[in-house]
Amino acid sequence: MQVLAVRQHWGRQFDPPQFDWRKLKRAMLQDWFVEAKYGIFLHWGIYSAGDWGESWPFFNGEVSYETYMAQAQSFTAQKYDPDAWARLFAESGARYAVLTAKHHDGFALWPTQVSSLNAVEGSPAGRDLIGPYCDALRRHGLKVGIYYSHLDWSHPDYASVLPGGAQPHDHSNMHSNPFGYPQNGPDEARWEKFLAFHRAQLKELCTLYKPDLLWFDGDWERDPEQWRFAELRDQLHEWAPGVVLNSRMGGHGDYGTPEQAIPITAPDEMWEFCVTTNDHWGYVKSDNNWKTPRQCIRMLAECAGMGGNLLLDIGPKSDGTIPDEQADILRQIGRWTHKHGEALYATVRGLPAGHFYGASTLSPARDTLYLFLFDRPYDEIAVKGIRNAVKSVEVVGSGQALQHRVLGGAPWAHLPGVLWIEVPEGALDSDCTVLKVQLDGPLDLYSGAGDVVTLNV
Ligand code: GLC
Repeated sequence: MQVLAVRQHWGRQFDPPQFDWRKLKRAMLQDWFVEAKYGIFLHWGIYSAGDWGESWPFFNGEVSYETYMAQAQSFTAQKYDPDAWARLFAESGARYAVLTAKHHDGFALWPTQVSSLNAVEGSPAGRDLIGPYCDALRRHGLKVGIYYSHLDWSHPDYASVLPGGAQPHDHSNMHSNPFGYPQNGPDEARWEKFLAFHRAQLKELCTLYKPDLLWFDGDWERDPEQWRFAELRDQLHEWAPGVVLNSRMGGHGDYGTPEQAIPITAPDEMWEFCVTTNDHWGYVKSDNNWKTPRQCIRMLAECAGMGGNLLLDIGPKSDGTIPDEQADILRQIGRWTHKHGEALYATVRGLPAGHFYGASTLSPARDTLYLFLFDRPYDEIAVKGIRNAVKSVEVVGSGQALQHRVLGGAPWAHLPGVLWIEVPEGALDSDCTVLKVQLDGPLDLYSGAGDVVTLNV
């Protein structure tokens, strides 16, 4: 078990040192993305047919490559209804979605001209699955994201950087060189062939579907120079003007992608937290370790409070239907987002830690503070360090006005007291109550150590 756990994380440990998304340039970060706050991630592919998750099982030697790839025969997409997907995402309050066009296994969901390993030629689905998804999202006012894995564990030329030109899915070779780094140097000619294939697929995706966002993955097995990511960035902008790029192109993207572990402190640059609703990205029938809708709402508020987006993952079944549990989570999040939209979309990060025990956001003018209550208050809740006068406090959704007062403080030293807000039981939302604090101007925050006596010493 221990060995497996370590191997599962090879990829993450071997991100090249250049992968520091905190230093991203943000050159192409679009307003829609920064304001969106909430997107839906979809892992859908031949792996949705089995009971073991996406791509990794054959890489990790848990099933043979042949057994894994045979799942393609059960990938029917028979009940695939992209309009129903898009309707559900809009109902949930998401502003964009990201669908796996090709995962590490190399199986493409669109009719790529450069490989027969695709839904049209290689599965009973027999049709393009990406185009209808893009159209449906746009009909429902959502932005279109496409996930694409740079690495391809099925492509014959991708193997060329492994010792002896071995196939990445040839497990025996993984033991001798588990991290996929070349021992005798890469076979340059085959690597160039692979790069041509990689660029051809990306050009297809860009020109056919004009994605608003390209969500990359799998950059860790080669360094950014080998991938020529700087060049790729320019090519993508040419093929899909205005496209937003995530960071997983050796740091040449626009924003960071913390995964599965929510940041504790707010990252400096733009970021998006991706997380599963159970323990797998793709559909795994036996995995019932669901997060509750309330926990998901809390993650969404925490991300927004730290200036980021939440990309919440679901895994449709091989017939294209979304598992009931996930549809239910999305609907329940929707009840909450529709009621509290003004505290979420297009807001900016809220109070730093220490001022309020919960998440908070601010209006872009920073004169309206939104407080997210994750727990039931006793009688009053406290906010510390606000120097502004408070004009009003009300409950988002109902508009109910709340009593508030400031106690303490040292006005002669310009140190604010504590703002106490009364929150009666009847004002509480069933998942997360949000309060709107109207300030007399842009937030003026005191975050110091509170020492007045020694100020002039
Ligand atoms: C990791 C996993 C991959 C998954 C991705 C989603 O990189 O390797 O399977 O698709 O996370 O962020």
